[in-house]
Amino acid sequence: MCGIVGYVGEKPALDVVLEGLRRLEYRGYDSAGVAVVADGSIVSEKRAGKLTNLEKALAERASANDPLGTATTGIGHTRWATHGPPNDVNAHPHLSADGSVAVIHNGIIENFATLRAELTDAGVELRSDTDTEVVAHLLAGAYGMHHDLAEAMRAVCRRLEGAFTLLAVQRDHPEMVVGARRSSPLVVGTGDGEYFLGSDVAAFIAHTRDAIELGQDQVVTITRDGVTITDFNGAPAEGKRYHVDWDAAAAEKGGYPNFMLKEIADQPQAVADTLLGRMDARGNLALDELRMNEDELRAIDKIVIVACGTAYYAGLVAKYVLEHYTRIPCEVELASEFRYRDPILTHRTLVVAISQSGETMDTLMAVRHAGEQGSRVLAICNTNGSTIPRESDAVLYTHAGPEIAVASTKGFLAQVTACYLLGLYLGKLRGDFFADEVRAIMAQLGEAPAAIQQVLDDTSQVEALARELADNRVILFLGRHVGFPVALEGALKLKELAYIHAEGFAAGELKHGPIALVEEGLPVLCVVPPRGRDQLHDKMISGIQEIRARGARTICLAEEGDETIVPYADVLLTLPKVPVLLQPLVATVPLQLFACELATLMGHDVDQPRNLAKSVTVE
Ligand code: G6P
Repeated sequence: MCGIVGYVGEKPALDVVLEGLRRLEYRGYDSAGVAVVADGSIVSEKRAGKLTNLEKALAERASANDPLGTATTGIGHTRWATHGPPNDVNAHPHLSADGSVAVIHNGIIENFATLRAELTDAGVELRSDTDTEVVAHLLAGAYGMHHDLAEAMRAVCRRLEGAFTLLAVQRDHPEMVVGARRSSPLVVGTGDGEYFLGSDVAAFIAHTRDAIELGQDQVVTITRDGVTITDFNGAPAEGKRYHVDWDAAAAEKGGYPNFMLKEIADQPQAVADTLLGRMDARGNLALDELRMNEDELRAIDKIVIVACGTAYYAGLVAKYVLEHYTRIPCEVELASEFRYRDPILTHRTLVVAISQSGETMDTLMAVRHAGEQGSRVLAICNTNGSTIPRESDAVLYTHAGPEIAVASTKGFLAQVTACYLLGLYLGKLRGDFFADEVRAIMAQLGEAPAAIQQVLDDTSQVEALARELADNRVILFLGRHVGFPVALEGALKLKELAYIHAEGFAAGELKHGPIALVEEGLPVLCVVPPRGRDQLHDKMISGIQEIRARGARTICLAEEGDETIVPYADVLLTLPKVPVLLQPLVATVPLQLFACELATLMGHDVDQPRNLAKSVTVE
């Protein structure tokens, strides 16, 4: 949800900023812009559309002495529109009326209408429809009083309501970028004589892996000499320094045509890395980072999972897993609904917030609400140093590496894996598991990466299916038990990437309404549970028979060797044998590939689907 980059150093700022924007474009891609400080003035260029439009415009104006090419201080922005349509005028940066200050922004300034009216009354002519532009004018006014850009930023921030990351440059400061953050992401990159600001570390990963995490309500100044951090009142503050454990190569396509395919292929590693080093020889899970009081964890009487989008579906899988492993009642809640329905939370409720980015505003607000109600909050997150883990009592990191494609894939499998670990940990702690039982399930989990790889090794059948179904505009997904959230995730992937009307249903619920949708030839992808002692498998076959009787074309995903499904499948995709609770780890993968392939055949950009953003930092 808007990517932000700032740079001060010796290199041409435009090159550094554009490279950062390329890596951040997944955060928003409906317009982009840059501004540099050179020779006592600010030079800016911005364009509606993807970053390539801006790059073309820059190439056209390029000349030997264009300050845009030579300046060494600059900021850049890639936008996901909230206020005002994505056009050239609304693109960031926004300049003050006198051109002295340029500002870029991620988030929403909630009192912008009041500030706008105030500025208009004072005779300022606002050019754009954005909430951001007011900041540029206010900042120029405050600078006029304080003659200190950081002080001016603090004065303006104290007047702003809402969530924001802001970066600003001022024409009299050729070697300074000032940033501010409240409830929106901003990290500092520290190099040798050069400093960076970014929405996340991808912005500067090609230059440095040393970063500083900023706290809430802080203002940061980068110059060639270093970094200064204060709170909004000017009191000195410290950021937390850390080293990023992945490099630029991890954030590149690595020979794949798009990030999504690369990230789907990364999944065996993502699951393996999330499991890595988390169990000692005695069968104890070493979730060191949890650091939660064990007595408190033993006393938990309810788990509430909050998450959005794909992470919410990981939460739905977790409900089955956690209740089975721990016998603690578990609810799963859409984070955006959570705090508005006055949820019943006590100090014995464990709230688990699942978020790949750690920045999703709906989830963050749910975390804050849970904390205010006295509940303990555990984050399951993929992004070190992001806001949600920082504001939670504890964190269990997934180690999927950077996820760039907007639609989540490896993030999901890593989240599901972390939920198994959490379930085992709580189960063991509360006496529901012996060490050898934990070891046995960990061994099964340890085999999951190879099973996922097996799915990835032969994708020809899924590709053929995508070709066959590419003209369909309605596709349904059916699942039962943990296969139900897999069906929902399969449908979401298709909606996100191929813009096809796709719905996932619980197979048993179909007969209570959705079966009315079934007509001759309707494709239905059915996630068939493995055969076991329960009746899940047979009940699923009953559901499949019901839709076949009404003309549905059934595409069944079933474990290898399951001959009983053959008569009920128009197309059969086989899955490696895994225990029923672990099936999401293998069954999700063909559905991701299917959506990716079908969308590609339709000519869509699978990494940057229309209207979406990877990290939604507004409510
Ligand atoms: C956005 C993305 C989804 C993602 C969701 C939650 O809507 O488009 O792919 O699942 O946010 O993101 P999070 O970072 O909190 O897991």
